[in-house]
Amino acid sequence: MSFFSKLFGHDKEQVKLFYNTDIHCHILPGVDHGSQSIEQSLDMLRAEQEMGINRVILTSHVTAVTFENTQESLTNAYHVLKKAAAEAGLDIELHVSAEYRMDEYFDKEYAADHLIPMPGNHLLLENSFQQELMNLNDLLFDLQVKGYRTILAHPERYSYYSHRRKRYEELHNAGAKFQVNILSFTGYFGEEARDTALWFADNGMIDYLGSDMHNIKHAHIIMEYLNSKEWRKLSPEIEQTVKNDLVV
Ligand SMILES: [Fe+2]
Repeated sequence: MSFFSKLFGHDKEQVKLFYNTDIHCHILPGVDHGSQSIEQSLDMLRAEQEMGINRVILTSHVTAVTFENTQESLTNAYHVLKKAAAEAGLDIELHVSAEYRMDEYFDKEYAADHLIPMPGNHLLLENSFQQELMNLNDLLFDLQVKGYRTILAHPERYSYYSHRRKRYEELHNAGAKFQVNILSFTGYFGEEARDTALWFADNGMIDYLGSDMHNIKHAHIIMEYLNSKEWRKLSPEIEQTVKNDLVV
């Protein structure tokens, strides 16, 4: 029985994900409001392994004012974590990238050619939660012309789109791939985000799934959900469109 099964007080084996790469998480220590220490990061990586993940793309926040991370700050934290994970005997592949909020800081970093894309030149992009970006289509086009493959982080969480879902189809047609959070299915971000996440599933519009875990509590909620009846029904349906392992 695994450590986590004991923690949850049941003796079921943890249900594994059907893919091996988590493309969205805040496991890098000390650079945003995710992991605050190496120990927390290692626990989160162990939880990833428990769910069947063996490759993790570290996507810390990069946002104006709050988390003005740079190539240097993220790369330094990545080397520290990589060394600690090896010393702890964790057999897990780590890559450094970021979750870029599309704001004035992003514009500056993009213009300076300082972005850190994921393997395969994918970029994880985040909208503001308050208001939509008016020139989003232009920005997507520009990034794609420059060779980036654009992924919109948790589209189900932008409530200004949830009542006009046609906009999602437009964005998909404009080359934005969609990364839905597993946490959204659990209701963790509210009923609206859950309904929209299920709508993405029903419409075959989930390109990637992500944990978006910021702490071990998030990991535990996801792990419990993976053992649920709903997930057992849902996962074979979305397996057709989710391409997490093709990110490289
Ligand atoms: Fe995130």
